[in-house]
Amino acid sequence: MRLSRYFLPTLKETPSEARIASHRLMLRAGMIHQEAAGIYSWLPLGFKVLQNIEQIVREEQNRAGAVEMLMPTIQPAELWRESERYEAYGKEMLRITDRHKREMLYGPTNEEMLTGIFRSYCRSYKELPKLLYHIQWKFRDEVRPRFGVMRGREFLMKDAYSFDIDEAAARKSYNRMFIAYLNTFARMGLKAVPMRAETGPIGGDLSHEFIILADTGESAVYCHKDLVDMPSPGLDVDFEGDLQPLVDERTALYAATEDVHDEDAFMAVPEDKRLSARGIEVGQVFYFGTKYSKPMKATVALPGGAEQAVHMGSYGVGVSRIAGAIIEASHDENGIIWPMAIAPFKVGIINLRQGEVATDAACEEAYLALVNAGVDPLYDDSEDRAGAKFSRMDMIGLPWQLIIGPRGLKDGLVEIKERASGDRQSLPLRDALNQLQDICTVSV
Ligand SMILES: Nc1ncnc2c1ncn2[C@@H]1O[C@H](COP(=O)(O)OP(=O)(O)O)[C@@H](O)[C@H]1O
Ligand SMILES: [Mg+2]
Repeated sequence: MRLSRYFLPTLKETPSEARIASHRLMLRAGMIHQEAAGIYSWLPLGFKVLQNIEQIVREEQNRAGAVEMLMPTIQPAELWRESERYEAYGKEMLRITDRHKREMLYGPTNEEMLTGIFRSYCRSYKELPKLLYHIQWKFRDEVRPRFGVMRGREFLMKDAYSFDIDEAAARKSYNRMFIAYLNTFARMGLKAVPMRAETGPIGGDLSHEFIILADTGESAVYCHKDLVDMPSPGLDVDFEGDLQPLVDERTALYAATEDVHDEDAFMAVPEDKRLSARGIEVGQVFYFGTKYSKPMKATVALPGGAEQAVHMGSYGVGVSRIAGAIIEASHDENGIIWPMAIAPFKVGIINLRQGEVATDAACEEAYLALVNAGVDPLYDDSEDRAGAKFSRMDMIGLPWQLIIGPRGLKDGLVEIKERASGDRQSLPLRDALNQLQDICTVSV
């Protein structure tokens, strides 16, 4: 992509409404544009990041055996009356009346809708288990939308729902999602710690939140230090095998959010291993048994013919919130530092003297070579001064910079800079291109 054709409205000034680094940087890097409190347009650079996050979430859901579908954002109120959540959900629910005066709502979550779909088609225990998900916009009329996309009103969520014959089987679905989440966040370069959590309006009795430790996090959390650096289960996990030992390993040590924190249990953790911190919730898993299936009559016939309400769980990942969470976890005073897997472009090309024949030619050669190798670089072909180009490229956080200018070219050299370490290396253009191609085409 050539910057001259792109739409990258970066800001020099720090917007005054932004109180945390990720919000500031997303606005300054031209990733998002606020439309109303907690409602954002995703500009091209932000949209690429959102799609990269979404794709990793999707791949790990599929690997864990979940099946993708798509439900609408607008839901009929009747479904929610059946579960008695229509009134109970309160002011967070955006209620809409259509032209026929029918009550509708913009979905804050989809337990009711998918339970409704399930009961329309699945009548026998033979249909079980089922594990379905979608990635769709949600609306919750939060009292205090803040921190940009971290606590929005409209936000993108992956939500999965499981249907099983009994608690033991439901536990297996829960474990699948639990393990899939750990792999998902690890692929994004995030250290997410599963912690026991309150079930809130979703209900039920078993729940874990996946928490990224960050000073700007909204929740107070308490955990055993060893959990923070515990390796992820790995992409070669056998999801058809017994996942319980992997889950047990990660739930044996103390970890809890503020709402369910047990001070006595925490004090039993050796003092040097006690971590009391703040965290960002990037995902949550729930097992709630028959809370929805009973009132909504989602039952299956057992082998003997008796009817059994299905045991359910639901599993959310805050796809749009993660864009902010990654920046909170990975930035410095110069801007964002994208992990390779999430970067909107993996390489930025900086032309230090736009209009100078040899420099333009070398940049053009580099650009085409990378495009042909399947690496879509962002080529800064603007007329801006070198200093402005350097600071913009650092701010938007692309992992690698290829810097080309007349002085180096005189000796046949260009520079590669790694954004994270700041390390620079001078080398011939050919070698630089080979190196960048190698780095960018290894799968992450
Ligand atoms: N207002 C919001 N803005 C952005 N992301 C959100 C918001 N509310 C929830 N999420 C994300 O969606 C995930 C699933 O939501 P859920 O656990 O049902 O909501 P809550 O945490 O409000 O009970 C959360 O873990 C979080 O990452
Ligand atoms: Mg939650």
